[in-house]
Amino acid sequence: MTDSPLLQDRRLGRNQMTGLTVLGLETSCDETAAAVVRLDDEGRATVLASVIASQIAQHAPYGGVVPEIAARSHVEAIDAIAAQAMGEADLSYDDLDGVAATAGPGLVGGVMVGLAFGKAVALARSLPLVAVNHLEGHAVSARLGADVPYPFLLLLVSGGHCQLLEVGGVGACRRLGTTIDDAAGEAFDKIAKTLGLPYPGGPALEKLAVGGDPDRYPLPRARLGHKDCDFSFSGLKTAAARIAETLTTPDERRDLAAAVQAAIARQLRERTARAMDLYAQGHSGEALRFVVAGGVAANATVRAVLEDAAHSHGFSFTAPPLAYCTDNAAMIALAGAERLALGLSDPLDAPARPRWPLDAAAAAAHPSHLAGRKGAKA
Ligand code: KG4
Ligand code: ZN
Repeated sequence: MTDSPLLQDRRLGRNQMTGLTVLGLETSCDETAAAVVRLDDEGRATVLASVIASQIAQHAPYGGVVPEIAARSHVEAIDAIAAQAMGEADLSYDDLDGVAATAGPGLVGGVMVGLAFGKAVALARSLPLVAVNHLEGHAVSARLGADVPYPFLLLLVSGGHCQLLEVGGVGACRRLGTTIDDAAGEAFDKIAKTLGLPYPGGPALEKLAVGGDPDRYPLPRARLGHKDCDFSFSGLKTAAARIAETLTTPDERRDLAAAVQAAIARQLRERTARAMDLYAQGHSGEALRFVVAGGVAANATVRAVLEDAAHSHGFSFTAPPLAYCTDNAAMIALAGAERLALGLSDPLDAPARPRWPLDAAAAAAHPSHLAGRKGAKA
């Protein structure tokens, strides 16, 4: 295998002083991931390595992520995964300019593993540490595969989150809407379970829906006509579960899967269209950019419906490459590099934060949005 020009330059001692090379670590849910990303002086990102060890097989017997199993599995995997990423990037720790680790939101036992590993590397190599908000990672993920300048309108749609955000830059997110109950990925997963599909349900439901008739089962259209940009999936979940109990044939299951997928995509479109109108009002005369990110952005129907909505509202459309839709460490490394480029880093006692809203002001103003005892989740 021939080396990339970037790596050849590095070995020859060129480019040493330009750009930032960052190790990213992601352990907030059921993927142990490490990546090395280089951000050049023009703000372009190159992924030098991205390694993801999925724990799906360990959680599958339980039908969902078991936090204790996740934390233990991250402890067992993190050394080897980080070493593999550094090996694939063909770099030593001395070649790094910083370490970025997810510090929340997520399952706190897992978050602590990656964050502690990142702190150890930072301390041992005298590198700056960036404690990255996982959601900020998803927010920058489209910039791993395309040139998407700030600002843009973001739909962040994953297993734990469903939010519309105006992204002005790193650390400058304003929330326009969020879910008042379940996240879209959570709806996919829970409905998939009632259809007897294995965890994780989203990709399994997408597979089952192929060739199905999305109009066979009418499903509720939550929040239609509401002026805000909030989502709700609990009515759809209940309706789908009731229908699922009555099904007997494979064709019926396939058609219900198609109807559920279409209903989730339709609501994402309707609420996003509302946010596009609001965003366009505040950015008249500017280039309008829309980005969808997070695990649910891997769904082809969701992508197609949102791309159509973007174009009919005068927005460009960008989704991350599929590998960077679901959880990965390249997006964490990039968020860290963008923060370092702005001179931002965190102390070595930065805490793991199970709940950490991107837009703290919006979360505090609407505490009913997924508020828990310890504050807003997302
Ligand atoms: O971003 P992600 O990996 O983790 C979180 O931060 O939540 O998203 C995982 C979620 C799961 O709910 C999964 O079912 C959903 O994304 N997902 C999908 C697809 N691939 C992943 N949902 C629908 N269709 C897919 N192809
Ligand atoms: Zn995620």
